[in-house]
Amino acid sequence: MCGIVGYTGFQDAYEIVINGLRRLEYRGYDSAGIVLEGSDNKLEVEKTKGKVEDLVNISKQLKGTANVGMGHTRWATHGVPSDRNSHPHLSNNGKIALVHNGIIENYDTIKTMLSEKGFTFQSETDTEVLVNLIQYFMDLNPEIDFPTAVRYALNEVYGAYAITVLHEDHPGVLVVGRLGSPLAIGIGEKEYFIASDASPFVEFTKEAIYLEEGHMATISLENGVDIRTINDNSKIEPEIQELKLSLEQIEKGGYEHFMLKEIFEQPKSIHDTMRGRLIVEEGVIKMAGIWDHVEKFKNANRIIIIACGTSWHAGLIGEYLIEEYARIPVEVEYASEFRYRNPIITDKDVVIAISQSGETADTMAALKLAKERGAFIYGICNVVDSSIARITDAGSYTHAGPEIGVASTKAFTAQLTILTLIAFKLGKHNGNLGNAEFMSLIAELEAIPKKVEEVLSATHELTQDIAKNFVKATNFLYLGRGYNYPAALEGALKLKEISYIHAEGYPAAEMKHGPIALIDENMPIVIIAPKKGHYDKIVSNVQEIKARKGKVIAVVNKGDRQVSEMADYVIEIPETSECFSPIIASVPLQLLAYYIAVYRGANVDQPRNLAKSVTVE
Ligand code: M6R
Repeated sequence: MCGIVGYTGFQDAYEIVINGLRRLEYRGYDSAGIVLEGSDNKLEVEKTKGKVEDLVNISKQLKGTANVGMGHTRWATHGVPSDRNSHPHLSNNGKIALVHNGIIENYDTIKTMLSEKGFTFQSETDTEVLVNLIQYFMDLNPEIDFPTAVRYALNEVYGAYAITVLHEDHPGVLVVGRLGSPLAIGIGEKEYFIASDASPFVEFTKEAIYLEEGHMATISLENGVDIRTINDNSKIEPEIQELKLSLEQIEKGGYEHFMLKEIFEQPKSIHDTMRGRLIVEEGVIKMAGIWDHVEKFKNANRIIIIACGTSWHAGLIGEYLIEEYARIPVEVEYASEFRYRNPIITDKDVVIAISQSGETADTMAALKLAKERGAFIYGICNVVDSSIARITDAGSYTHAGPEIGVASTKAFTAQLTILTLIAFKLGKHNGNLGNAEFMSLIAELEAIPKKVEEVLSATHELTQDIAKNFVKATNFLYLGRGYNYPAALEGALKLKEISYIHAEGYPAAEMKHGPIALIDENMPIVIIAPKKGHYDKIVSNVQEIKARKGKVIAVVNKGDRQVSEMADYVIEIPETSECFSPIIASVPLQLLAYYIAVYRGANVDQPRNLAKSVTVE
């Protein structure tokens, strides 16, 4: 979603802000803008609907003119994507500029109040209301300083926000605040950076402060970083962290798209997720997060997994894994439904939140609700120190490395890896998984990265060839059974996100209860049919599809005959225990979606309307 970059220091603020905005493009946006403090401290604003490169085209003249500035990529919430609605927004007196990520829920009431006082508005945004509210407080009491006015304004709004504000009469000062949306402050030598994540400043400093919920900061070269609570102005000692992120991790490294790079990183990311945790020689899984709270899990009435999108699909597979191997009841919920349906939660429940970004607003809100009602909450996040990671009682990072492509790939297989480790660890601990089976499963798990590598090399060209036949398809069905039903859902989600082809995932047996009506010679059906996992039933499903002339793309094990003979296209993957097959089967489905999207000329890394971290509900 929206991205924020700010800078005060000695370098060209234009370059820092524009390059920073390019780094944040992956978050998803529809317009971009910049404001710089010119030589006479006048605020110079340029903004436009479209991409950062469109912004560059209209703002080149600002290059080299300032050492202080900020920029924004906007993902429209209030008002269509347009030049007028783009950020930064200026106050009526033209002195205050503000960029904002999030939603001010009571903006309408404040807008009415300000309109009655004579304020006018150029845009339809909630953000313009906030910047004028700051002016209102400064006009009302000329004695108060700029940060205080920002604080007063923030105390009047509710919703979610990360903001950065500049004031013409306070040169070199950036005021930032956050509630619900992330904001990082990079600490350099005689320079400070602000950004929605650390990627815009990773080459300049390894030190950063992640602003906490409900905190604001006033940043200047003169006085450094002054952090306060928004509600009562209490001073907070900054906690400076060392960044683990490197520049290579956030560059494409020769791949055409981040998504392709991330698909190919999976042997490593799965391995990194297991590293230090899976010690096959010792026959152990070491996971402090689980082990320190193992009794909580063991005695839990049930585990509730909450997540959204791809992470929710991982959660479904987690349910199969944990119920099969640890025999603990599991429910999987969409975070957005869970948070609003007054769920029954007790202190005997364990809630696991799965989130790549760790910033998803619905997942965060659902977790807070579960925590309030006494559940033990566990996080599975990829982004270290993300908001969800920080509010959980315990958790496991996936360590997949930064995922930049909007379509989640390596984070998904890393989530499956963690869930597998959790299921095996709990199963071993509570005695449902005997030692011999445990040893054989963990040995197989250790070999999964190698198998993913094999799948990548065996299916990379093949999926390109298959993709060419479906560039004009308008619908797709994805079918699977057991563990591969969620894998089918995930395959369908990947395709629709990046190619804009309508795709549905179904448990294969459900086909007869509706989707079969759609099948004719124009309907491509991807069917996941490994040997282990209801193979005979799948064979019947394929027969039913072929009887209606559907085009079958079958993902089967090497040497398969029955399904392969009926299928129009065959993708072979190595045989594994059923519980690992979603990891293996997902890889060619990611490649297939990727190449169909590429051949359709779609913007694979930044699909339309989508954001990488969905920080508004
Ligand atoms: O960061 P999260 O895992 O919480 O994100 C959840 C979904 O927004 C995300 O998985 C989304 O569905 C992706 N675009 C899937 O590729």
